Amino acid sequence: MPMERLNMFRTMLLGLVLIFGGVMACSTPDASQPETPGTEADPASAEASTDPSSDAVVADAGVVNVYSARHYDVDDELYTLFKAQTGIDVNIIEGDSASLLERLRREGEQSPADLFVAVDAGRLHQAELEGIFDPVQSDTLNERIPESLRHPEGLWFGLTKRARVIVFAKDRVQADELASYEDLADPKWKGRVLIRSSSNVYNQSLVGSIIAAHGEEEAETWCRGLVANMARKPQGGDRDQVRAVAAGEGDVAVANSYYLAHMMSGSPEDQEAISKMSVLFPNQSDRGTHVNISGAGVVKGAPNRDNAIKFLEFLTSDAAQQIFAGGNKEYPVVTSAEPAPELAAFGSFKEDPVNASVFGAGNQQALMLMDRCGWR
Ligand SMILES: [Fe+2]
Repeated sequence: MPMERLNMFRTMLLGLVLIFGGVMACSTPDASQPETPGTEADPASAEASTDPSSDAVVADAGVVNVYSARHYDVDDELYTLFKAQTGIDVNIIEGDSASLLERLRREGEQSPADLFVAVDAGRLHQAELEGIFDPVQSDTLNERIPESLRHPEGLWFGLTKRARVIVFAKDRVQADELASYEDLADPKWKGRVLIRSSSNVYNQSLVGSIIAAHGEEEAETWCRGLVANMARKPQGGDRDQVRAVAAGEGDVAVANSYYLAHMMSGSPEDQEAISKMSVLFPNQSDRGTHVNISGAGVVKGAPNRDNAIKFLEFLTSDAAQQIFAGGNKEYPVVTSAEPAPELAAFGSFKEDPVNASVFGAGNQQALMLMDRCGWR
């Protein structure tokens, strides 16, 4: 090949490489984004097959990108049903709440996230403090979800409920011996109360609800009484507290309602443990039992905001609420769906009507109070 023709060929080849390379770079804008130095490795990054961050950060009529701290099998069923009803694909990034928030922070405006899902109002409040939510005004959401279970300005919406109940050993405690969370601080329960650690957000929200009901000073006195009554140094999850009561380490325990329902169809040991318990909905003669939520909010700058709202509305439909209720044994937030039979068997109960945003926002105050009163 003569020199001139060879040079022309090289120039064309280089041009093609540049054009093709440019197209590739445009289609993967995230790859060109520098990582924020000093951030931790992302535990969710292993889920490459469902990672929406490899897609362009532009609206896609057929997609909603969900960052979810819920890890329940039943959720997959919901995504499939939504896809069948709307044709919209649900891309899920799972992780714990803190690592998902860290990821959102790192991705900044380039984030493909449309919806952030968390368990517990305390976590939703932390996300709110990070400024990740954009308010949503939806008549469907406002009509379907009771006011106490959604943010007053539409930053997030409760999708399922869980009651924080008291269980007690049938053979050692009479039903009329206690009726409220406040009773757990009575010296008669010294060495008999089992409850998990103060690092657990369910307990932080419970304490937040007690601060909302009685003020900080009285709540702290209660907390000291409760700590004095603990049967052991807090350890394990909610189910472990029930197992410990069954094993005779204490007589009363505090646990979320869905754990009890799961134990009823769990291992033979758990079935035996739960059969020895009675379930008590605390505070029925006054403000009602503390109820927490799992919920979600639309992310600021969501590339698929309309789909995110559509998905949220779908999650409050009777069909979706029935799946939530049946799968993870949570209470539906709509009255037209039925709780799972195990939960229904505990009976209906009066709920503390305090807005979840109140004890959510009181999370730090609750945590400091628990620390002061020696709840480890
Ligand atoms: Fe849980």
